[in-house]
Amino acid sequence: MTSAPVQPVAARRSGPLNGRLRVPGDKSISHRALIFGALAAGGTRIGGLLEGEDVLNTGKAMRALGAQVERVGAGEWRVQGVGVSGFARPAEALDFGNSGTGCRLVMGAVAGCPITATFDGDASLRKRPMRRVLDPLQRMGARVAAGGEGGRLPITLSGATDAVPITYQTPVPSAQVKSAVLLAGLGAPGATTVIEREATRDHTERLLRHFGADIQTEPDGEHGRRITLVGQPELVPAPVVVPADPSSAAFPLVAALINPGSELVLDGVMTNPLRTGLFTTLREMGATIELLSVRDDGEEVADLRIRASPLRGVDVPATRAPAMIDEYPILAVAAAFAEGTTRMRGLKELRVKESDRLAATAEMLRVNGVIVGIDGDDLIVEGRGRVQGGGLVATHMDHRIAMSALVMGLASGKPVAVDDAGFIATSFPGFVELMRSLGGDLS
Ligand code: S3P
Repeated sequence: MTSAPVQPVAARRSGPLNGRLRVPGDKSISHRALIFGALAAGGTRIGGLLEGEDVLNTGKAMRALGAQVERVGAGEWRVQGVGVSGFARPAEALDFGNSGTGCRLVMGAVAGCPITATFDGDASLRKRPMRRVLDPLQRMGARVAAGGEGGRLPITLSGATDAVPITYQTPVPSAQVKSAVLLAGLGAPGATTVIEREATRDHTERLLRHFGADIQTEPDGEHGRRITLVGQPELVPAPVVVPADPSSAAFPLVAALINPGSELVLDGVMTNPLRTGLFTTLREMGATIELLSVRDDGEEVADLRIRASPLRGVDVPATRAPAMIDEYPILAVAAAFAEGTTRMRGLKELRVKESDRLAATAEMLRVNGVIVGIDGDDLIVEGRGRVQGGGLVATHMDHRIAMSALVMGLASGKPVAVDDAGFIATSFPGFVELMRSLGGDLS
């Protein structure tokens, strides 16, 4: 692993932000499009792929496992798959860089194949918990052949020769855990079932269906789901068009809300209801967000029109967390510019993201003069309608902390600096240039 030079960036108070643009493709769907393309029997075309470092690392892993992965134009990729259980033993360790999604999903795919592979990542990924996927994968017949002390990377995993289908209730609300079990279930005879108490993003289920697998989803309890996949299908190549990422759209969207006089249109943003908790919350806070030209392309998509809006503090229920799990840092910025208190409940999972995001978000606000508290798993932000700024934010190798801090700086009294904007390239290449093109003062 090479370490890139540190890239400090600062954002200064800017005028209104105006324009119409498309943010890069959805990260969750991009990872999955490459993985399912690699597991299909034949050639899959992907359009609008996010060409961020996280997804490119998943593409490299698919190549190392025997698929052909080729870039044929901007965002246009072709994957020649090897078929379910067709992965070959990779010659070297698979390096997932900063990406928990890439690593955990590919662990699932490898667990269902009779091969051995070593999984590794950067210093941030090496701190993140892997037990949550290893536990069910071991029950399905995979073995941890080396490493894994304390459930941390690097880990060598031997997939099952005869994978066992299981019924698994996920102990944490995690689409990555659900997806790892379903991917391993592709290699098992019979039905693999995942039960989740709270529904999480369902891109894996949608794409499996798109590639011809027999997968059924039923409601389970008040907020949960029961997902059943029939194993050992032939996955049939099917073209994938990746919509714009709502989690990336969140940054220009909040920037427009908090900069008076702004008006933005964000084209082709995915509005899958399991991803739009932020839009719901911002509307409750008083935001003007209109959905134009709503359409359905296997995923719901719309153009979003956003106008700068005065915001008020709200209470965000814990049940909404899975639908906006990546959006709390930027919501906390919006909350700081709102009038009144915002309480965001049930954020335990934020502690195991690319950083301890609960602590990093609170610190990002605090060093810029915002009154903020953590009470158990809740984050409480005292909004005063404005932010003093002037702080240097430690990003802790976390792209979303970096982008949230820079958005805050665009509307703060004094500039806001980040120690390293380099990790933004994992999910949103071109972010700084794009914010500048809207009128943002960043350098
Ligand atoms: C993702 C699931 C979420 C999310 C991550 C992407 C996915 O993680 O935070 O950015 O694509 O499945 P968890 O499954 O750990 O909640």
